[in-house]
Amino acid sequence: MGYLIAGNWKMNGSRGSAISLASGLVARANAAQMQLPGIVLCPPGPLLPTVISAISGSAIAAGGQDCHAKDKGAHTGDTSASLLADIGCRYVIVGHSERRADHGETDAAVRAKAEAALKAGLIPIICVGETDAERDRGGTDAVVTRQIKGSIPAGVTAGAIVVAYEPVWAIGTGRTATSGDIASVHALIRKVFGGEVSVLYGGSVKGNNAAEILAIPGVSGALVGGASLDLDDFWRIVEACPHGK
Ligand code: PGA
Repeated sequence: MGYLIAGNWKMNGSRGSAISLASGLVARANAAQMQLPGIVLCPPGPLLPTVISAISGSAIAAGGQDCHAKDKGAHTGDTSASLLADIGCRYVIVGHSERRADHGETDAAVRAKAEAALKAGLIPIICVGETDAERDRGGTDAVVTRQIKGSIPAGVTAGAIVVAYEPVWAIGTGRTATSGDIASVHALIRKVFGGEVSVLYGGSVKGNNAAEILAIPGVSGALVGGASLDLDDFWRIVEACPHGK
């Protein structure tokens, strides 16, 4: 299983910044002398065609930040997984904590989105992670177990999905979980899932802490927010992936 570095641009960027970031990454990927990890860019939906055209022919893939559970219909403002696949996406993030918080997405809703992604031929990046309050009361394992059981489609094979463990309190805060906590939650996720699923870590991953985080046993890559908007910082994370896994 190779490493995967996914950039979640969230609600940031413009056509101009998307072209310069995506084409800058393509130039670095083409010039790289190392074995590259998988790289996925998840820009806001309206920028997907721009990014997909900039990465065309390169090893970099594109992904959506969310999809609807249904394939089509009267759902104003939503985007189907099949449309994301149709325009050239290979991935879609589902169940990000910001979607769970801002849009009240439940585990069942996240699972339905992941099922739609699989049906469309996309790889869902299914996000889980505890809040500060849940962690403070010692609830991390219980919360992550509940989210894994509730958010991952039944019977799915390990290779068809990617899981991202993102402690909510670590997102955009500059705080990261300890190596021991990351290793133990990643092991828990695989145990609850029942297989060698790819598990990314997310939450304030930057160029200057990526090597340490990516070397933690059980970490298959990173889901990167803020640092994915900066070409140099994001590329430092790509380069921090250990070789030969
Ligand atoms: P961050 O975001 O890297 O800015 O903490 C990570 C994420 O929310 O995916």
